[in-house]
Amino acid sequence: MKRSVESVDVRGSRVLVRLDLNVPLDGNQRITDDRRIRAALPTVKRLIEGGGRQVLMSHLGRPKGVPDDHRKLSLAPVASRLSELLDKPVRLIKDITGKEASGAVASMAAGDVFLLENLRFHKAETIKDKKAEDDAALRESKDAFARKLASLADVYVNDAFGTCHRDNASMLTVPRLMEGKPRVVGYLVQRELDFLGGALANPDRPFVCVLGGAKVSDKLGVIRSLVKKCDSILIGGAMGFTFLAAGGTNIGKSLVEPDLFETARALRSEAGDRLILPVDSVVAAEIRQGVSTEICDGPVPDGLMGLDIGPKTVAAYHEIIRAGKTVFWNGPMGVFETSPFDAGTLGVARALAMATDAGATTIVGGGDSAAAIDQAGLADRVTHISTGGGASLEFLEGKRFAAIDVLDDA
Ligand code: 3PG
Ligand code: MG
Repeated sequence: MKRSVESVDVRGSRVLVRLDLNVPLDGNQRITDDRRIRAALPTVKRLIEGGGRQVLMSHLGRPKGVPDDHRKLSLAPVASRLSELLDKPVRLIKDITGKEASGAVASMAAGDVFLLENLRFHKAETIKDKKAEDDAALRESKDAFARKLASLADVYVNDAFGTCHRDNASMLTVPRLMEGKPRVVGYLVQRELDFLGGALANPDRPFVCVLGGAKVSDKLGVIRSLVKKCDSILIGGAMGFTFLAAGGTNIGKSLVEPDLFETARALRSEAGDRLILPVDSVVAAEIRQGVSTEICDGPVPDGLMGLDIGPKTVAAYHEIIRAGKTVFWNGPMGVFETSPFDAGTLGVARALAMATDAGATTIVGGGDSAAAIDQAGLADRVTHISTGGGASLEFLEGKRFAAIDVLDDA
């Protein structure tokens, strides 16, 4: 157990809060999904109420250092959205390592909230510790950046679950440098650890996992780990075709990863009946809205590709999910952005909602599945939607997060 933000008296203190405000933006820098901002509010509000002087920090996207990226990936729209949600001004600090930041922080009053501009505008933020090991100049540049951030505060709060699998300066070097000061988890990280950790450590059974998405290679670690823990793994998305093709089924021109056939066969033989593959698919010649489709049982004819799980598979998965007591879902079942290839994904979303109604703990991890559950209007009918994509998968894989380990124990 890590020490919680709940336990710190922050009145008058300067509090540096790492959030994951990496939200999707459209071409006009408008936020298209503010879930990560809303998920950060409980901690921010608690620190306002406690009279802290809050300096929030986050990355946005993966800027390359070119001026255009700096314009497009500014946190300015996030600062505005935060102001609206908190109903108080949130000042954006542009020069985060210079006098603007230190001066602004010195002038803050209790309850004030400032946001530092995109951390990744500084290359030092993302230098990997592994690389810095054999390069003293890189190490010094990362440490120097982190020292500037650390000097802004008396308390460090990590509430950036979606970034906890990274060794970014703000995630790991800064709390290391703040040893001796309170370094705690926020409410969002605590909730993620409780749900994801609970599902892994002690799931109510049947424990059902639904995994989709394009590539087996992206999910290999998590499949390997979940195969040992859950009662059924339901596979969908193009990933299913790698398993089917590895078993000798013709898959037409569906997306496939031939390099992984050997691995797919090994996983299937390890998992036995617990690994469940689609029995039918929705196929078409191309991915296009309204294109003519067929339903195929088993093999996909040459020249066509499978773009969603078929109705028999949806029905079978529905039954298994509804009977689950713990259900974890990551990754769409088909090309859900393009109708009519969204039926499988929406079917899974509905099954999760019904399982929740029947008392199951249902957890959705990852950006695409979270978007799909929202699209289906069922976001409030699952127990927990993780704010982490990569982070939730790596957590379920059983990896340790150095960014969490470094924080104070409870
Ligand atoms: C994410 O959206 O995956 C997190 O914000 C982390 O971002 P990253 O994958 O660019 O490190
Ligand atoms: Mg990522």
